[in-house]
Amino acid sequence: MTATAVVGIGELTTHDEVGVRHDAAVVVDGGLIAWVGHGSPAADEAVDLGGRAVIPGFVDSHTHLVFAGDRVGEFVARMAGEAYDGGGIASTVAATAAAGDEELRAQLASRVAAARQQGTTTVEVKSGYGLDTAAELRLLRLAAEVTAETTLLGAHVVPRGADPDAYAALVAGEMLTACAPYARWFDVFCEPGVAFDGPQTEALLAAGAAAGLGLRVHAGQLGAGPGVGLAVAHGAASADHCNHLSDADVDALAGSDTVATLLPGADFCARTPYPDARRLLDAGVSIALASDGNPGTCHSTSMPWVISLAVRELHLTPAEAIRAATAGGAQALRRSDIGVIRPGALAHLAVVDAPTAAHLAYRPGMPLVSTLAL
Ligand code: NIG
Ligand code: FE
Repeated sequence: MTATAVVGIGELTTHDEVGVRHDAAVVVDGGLIAWVGHGSPAADEAVDLGGRAVIPGFVDSHTHLVFAGDRVGEFVARMAGEAYDGGGIASTVAATAAAGDEELRAQLASRVAAARQQGTTTVEVKSGYGLDTAAELRLLRLAAEVTAETTLLGAHVVPRGADPDAYAALVAGEMLTACAPYARWFDVFCEPGVAFDGPQTEALLAAGAAAGLGLRVHAGQLGAGPGVGLAVAHGAASADHCNHLSDADVDALAGSDTVATLLPGADFCARTPYPDARRLLDAGVSIALASDGNPGTCHSTSMPWVISLAVRELHLTPAEAIRAATAGGAQALRRSDIGVIRPGALAHLAVVDAPTAAHLAYRPGMPLVSTLAL
C-alpha cells in the first residue's frame, strides 16, 4: 500500500469531535483515512494543497437519475405560472420506456460523472420512471451498476389508467419480490391526491420492510399529509422534502432516528415553498441536504448550489449546510463510513479552491470543488 499525506490544508472540516482544524493534514492509505492531524506526517508521498479547504465529499442521498428525455417545456411553463403537480412524471416514464439499456446506461454514467465533478462522492439513485415490474427492475439493475445506494421507487405515482389500490398491491407484491435483490432501499411518494395516500403508504412501507429493505418516504412535498408520521412510525431512515410539516410531524422527527432530507433545489425549480429548516434544527431534528436530481423538479445534481440555496433560502449557516450535505446525507443513508474525516472512514475528500469551505455558499455557481482521488 502507498500512504499519501495530504498537507497544507488551510481549513479541514472533519465532523469528528474536533470539527474544524486549521493548517491540517490527512494521511490516506488503501482508500481509507489513516490519520488526521497537523504538520507533515510521514508517508510515501505527499500532496500539498497550499492552504485550500477540505471537506468530506458530498453525500447526495436523494436522486432520480435513471431516466431518458427532459421536461424543459414543463419547466418553462412553470416559470410562466403553471403549478407543479407531478403530472409530467408520465412523460418521463414514456421516454424512459422508449430508450434502450445502452442509452440509459450512458446517460446515467454522464449524470453521475457530472455529480462527481461537483464534489459528490456518494450518490443514492432511485428507480421510479418504469412503473411496472420489468421496467422498474431494469432501472434498478442499471442504478446498481453505479452505486450501492439503490432505491426501489415503484410507488412513485400510479400509472395512467391503472387502479390505485391494484397498482399499490402490485408494487408491494410482485414488484418488490423481483426488485429487492437490486435495491437497498424502498421509497414511497406519499402525497394524497397526487401519488399514494396514507393507507396505501402504510401497506407499502410494511411490505418494503418485510422484504428486508430500508425505508425512505417522499413526505409533505406538495401539501400536508401523513407521510412524515408514517416514515417515523415505520422507522424510515429519511423523510424527504418536508415542505409541509405539522407540529406533530416535527415532534415525531425530533424523537426519532428519521432524518429530514431537504431538497431546496427542487423547491427552487418547482417554485414551491421552502421547508422551515430552522424549525427542524431548533427542535433537534437531524437534517440532510440532497439534490433530488430528476427531470421534473430539479435537473441538477450540484451540491454546492444546493448549499448556496440552503444558506440563502433555508437560513442555515454555511457550516450547517455543509454538515447536512455530507454527514447529514450519510446519516440519511445510515452510513458511518462517509460524511466524516476520521481514521477508518473512506477517503472521500473534496477540495474547495478557497481558504474556507464557507466560500461554497459565498460564491454561488463558481466551480470551486474537486474530489481528491487517492
Ligand atoms: O422528488 N415527488 C416526486 N418525485 C420527484 C419528481 C419527479 C418528477 O417530477 O419527475 C421529486 O420531486
Ligand atoms: Fe424525489
